[in-house]
Formats: sequence, structure tokens, C-alpha cells
Amino acid sequence: ALYGESRRNSRGVNMNILSEWLPLKDELDKWWDARWTGAPLVNGKRLEGEVRAVMCPYELSHQVGEVVWASADQTRAAIDDLSGAFVRWNATPVDERAAILERAADKLEEHMPELMALCTREAGKLLQDGIDEVREAVDFCRFYAMQARQRFATITLPGPTGESNELYLQGRGVFACISPWNFPLAIFLGQVSAALVCGNTVVAKPAEQTSLVAVRCVELMHEAGLPGDVLALLPGDGAQVGSVITSDPRIAGVAFTGSTQTAHVINRALAARNGAIAPMIAETGGQNAMIVDSTALPEQVVNDVVSSAFQSAGQRCSALRVLFVQEDIAERVIELLKGAMAELHVGDPARRDTDVGPVIDADARDGLLKHVREMKQAGCLIAETPVPESLNGHFVAPVAFRLDSINELSDEHFGPILHVVTWRARDLDKIIDDINATGFGLTLGVHSRNEDTAEHIDARVRIGNVYINRNQIGAVVGVQPFGGQGLSGTGPKAGGPHYLLRFVTERTRTINT
Ligand code: NAD
Ligand code: ALA
Repeated sequence: ALYGESRRNSRGVNMNILSEWLPLKDELDKWWDARWTGAPLVNGKRLEGEVRAVMCPYELSHQVGEVVWASADQTRAAIDDLSGAFVRWNATPVDERAAILERAADKLEEHMPELMALCTREAGKLLQDGIDEVREAVDFCRFYAMQARQRFATITLPGPTGESNELYLQGRGVFACISPWNFPLAIFLGQVSAALVCGNTVVAKPAEQTSLVAVRCVELMHEAGLPGDVLALLPGDGAQVGSVITSDPRIAGVAFTGSTQTAHVINRALAARNGAIAPMIAETGGQNAMIVDSTALPEQVVNDVVSSAFQSAGQRCSALRVLFVQEDIAERVIELLKGAMAELHVGDPARRDTDVGPVIDADARDGLLKHVREMKQAGCLIAETPVPESLNGHFVAPVAFRLDSINELSDEHFGPILHVVTWRARDLDKIIDDINATGFGLTLGVHSRNEDTAEHIDARVRIGNVYINRNQIGAVVGVQPFGGQGLSGTGPKAGGPHYLLRFVTERTRTINT
């Protein structure tokens, strides 16, 4: 019964709402020093190969575990097996497939402490983010199970006397699911569960940084009754394993979540194949803005800015990157923002008083710090939260900079970096046009007590998820179906009622009776 519950916390301004975690504490404590092992899982069995150490992003000397990376040959062989299993799985009644997802959701709930600890150890997630992560994964399973039961009902169509006509849905074949590290369980399982419940067999490629969470998830799915031969998990290098998968002509569709650059690479790989024309679901990056006008309440604005920009260390595709604040209240908002940023605690994500944990790895940290240096050199600094020197991890201080225009940013800076632009009343349409001109279209926040202004902005922006008078992160399955447009994705809404339709093929059957 978790479906929808995460909403209670998703808007939390106080980023440490851990009351629900406390009952789990004893259970959770057992997992801190665990060492997990992972490997490619094909036909329900672990494969052998090159072993990689998995290190903790906030305690650099701590080894979380190790994982075997899949080879190109293992990947091709797994696709052979999945092709063979497709006809049987596709013919399995949808009720049976949906029931397996529901049992998998139960398994995730039973293993909540382990999965939370693993999300923290491997991905550097705060405990609250870990709770939300498991809940979202559970929600996806239950939501797609429910949707599949409704959607897969055969529709009887009209026809002449003596003829029966039916329309029904089927899986497409072997679906590739390629996922990012920032929601290593929720997005991973969201893609995989949607593809499986539709009758596809699935080759899943988790992000390099977070393979262990994916391995535990697949093991739990098998414990829940998922046949070994319908899902192959292939941890490994994106460019290597990923390109073997996406260039294989037997792949019937791709669900990809990650950067816009990788989406372009995959799109080209699919186009270069001689096989079936495979649809691609791409859910990619953003250059997300919030527009604040002079009627907004500065205190509420700053609460929502802080959670939107800095929660999860800004490592959400939905996170706020550029705050547009009308000049009349800009000084007040910036003053409050400085105060709020001074109160944030950067540190160990397993501690209850931490607001901002590490970023995922050294490459991410170095890329973010390069941008921070450049902005500081340009004299744009507004505020920066201190990072304790005692920390030994990939930490980046939450930081805010002034900016003249969103056009000065060409890339998504995927971390706790906020840019602030001030605007005059007559410039509203110009900033809307500037936001649209970035080409990204994922999330937008609006703060205004003038309904006409909010409606005007909403009508003109080309954005997938618009949030008015609240923060712009934490979309809830079935409540805020999530997905962007343009450079942010091909448009399907994860956690929405139409999502499964992207994983199926429609068939009609006509019988002359
Ligand atoms: P990424 O593009 O580097 O990697 C994503 C996945 O693609 C990984 O599993 C990686 O191994 C794989 N990959 C890399 N190269 C590949 C190739 N040539 N062929 C096939 N697969 C390949 O992204 P990331 O750093 O893991 O994730 C962060 C990005 O994801 C950010 O841009 C963020 O905005 C985006 N994101 C978007 C959403 C959304 O719903 N729109 C959600 C979460 C994250
Ligand atoms: N679904 C995630 C959020 O809304 C990305 O923050």
C-alpha cells in the first residue's frame, strides 16, 4: 500500500524528515559494513568475468563490494537466450506477469533496510532519499501491474455479420533498458517492470556506478517468481556493453534514461542497424528554471528553491538550475537564500543531520568544480555552503551564482549549483522565450500569486512537468507522471497511464466465423 505515499515527503522543505526511518534503524545498522558482490545475471545465474571494486563516494577508503562486468560475448549470448524466451513470456497471461511485479514490490519492502543502506553506500544517497527510492520502485511495480491489467483487456470491434474483430496488445520482443546512477533502483526497476509486464523479455544495463543495487533488485525479482530467462542483467561499461546491445538487430525497443549526449549516441546506433525499426524512449537531462514574480512569498520561494536545487546534491534531472526572480523582490529572496544556504549541512549521508551528501564520483565532482571556478573567476558568487575539511569523499559545496541570462549556460551542471537571474516586468515573455530556446523541456517551477501570470507562463513554455507554487522535484508515480520534451526526452511519462503503450505493439485479429 505504498503507492502514492511518497508524496508526503516529496515536498519536504526540511530535508531530514526521518521519522519513518527510525523504526528501521536497528535493521539498517546491520548493513553498514556489509560487502556486496554482483555479477551479470543471465538465465538466473551469475556469470564470471572481470571483477571491479565498488568504492563508497563519501568514504573513499571504504569498499562497498565488487561487481563482475559483462563482456561483449556474454551480452550477445544473453540476447540469444532472451530472443528464445520471448514467445513463451509474451503468451503468459498478463495477470500472471502483473502478479510477479506485485510480489517483487513486496520483496523490496521486506528488504527496505538493505536496499536503503546499499543506496547510501553505493550511490551516496541520504537516508530519506533512500526511503523515497525504494518507495518509488515499489510504486512503479504496483502501478504498472495495475495499468497492465486494465490496458491488456482485448477490445471487441464492430464488423459485418459473421466476422469477429478484436484489438489487443502484445510485447515487442527483446527490450533494452539502460538506466542512470541517480535513481539506481527506482528508474532501473521502473523501466524493467514496464517492459516485462507488457510481455517483452529484457536486457538491462545499469549505470557503471550503481550495479550492486541493480543486482540485488534482479535477485529479489527472481525470488518473487520472475523466470530466470526473461530478464538478463549486464553490468558493464556503457560505451562497450551498451553499444553491443543497441547495435544488435534483434533489439525491438530501447528505454533509456541518462544524459542527452548518450541518447544521441544510442539513437544513431539504432538508426545504423539493419534490423527492425525499434522505438526509443529517451528520458534525458534538463536546464530547469523557476520563474518567480513580485507577488510571490519570498520565504516560500526560498524553501522551494533550496529543496529543488540542493536536495539529493542537485543530482536529480528535475533539479532547479536557473532561478528567475523579479527585481522588486530579488534582494529579499537573495538575502533569505544566503541565510538558508548557511544552514545547510554537507556531510556523511548516513547521518541524520546531513542535508547534502556527496556527488557520485570524482569525474562528476571535477566537472562541477571546473564550472564553479569559472563562475567565481567571473565574479558571480552569491553564496556557498562550507564543506567540512574532515570529509573524505566527492563533495561539492552548494553554491549560488548570479547570471545575466540562461543562454550563457550550454550544459546541464548536474550537481548543487544554482544560477540566479533577475528580471523586469516587461521582460517576462523574453525569459520564457529564453527558457524555450535552451531546447531542454523537463521541469519548470513558477511562484506567483497572480493566477493570470502563472497561466500565461504555463501556456507558453514547452516543458514536460510544470509545478506552480511548490518545489519542482519528487514527482510521484501516478500523481505527477514524469518526462520531458526536446533535448529532455522523447516525451513518454514514466509513472503515467500511457507509459506502457510505448512498450507494446498493437494487433488486430479478424475471424470469419
Ligand atoms: P549517462 O548518459 O552517462 O549514462 C546513462 C546510462 O547509459 C548508463 O547505464 C551508461 O552506462 C549507459 N551508456 C553510456 N554510453 C552508452 C552507449 N554508448 N550506449 C548505450 N548505453 C550507454 O547518464 P548518467 O550520468 O548515468 O545520468 C545522469 C543523466 O541522466 C543526467 O543528464 C540526468 O539529467 C539524466 N536523467 C534524466 C532523467 C529523466 O527522467 N529525464 C532521470 C534521471 C537522470
Ligand atoms: N522523478 C524524479 C523527480 O521528480 C526525477 O525528482
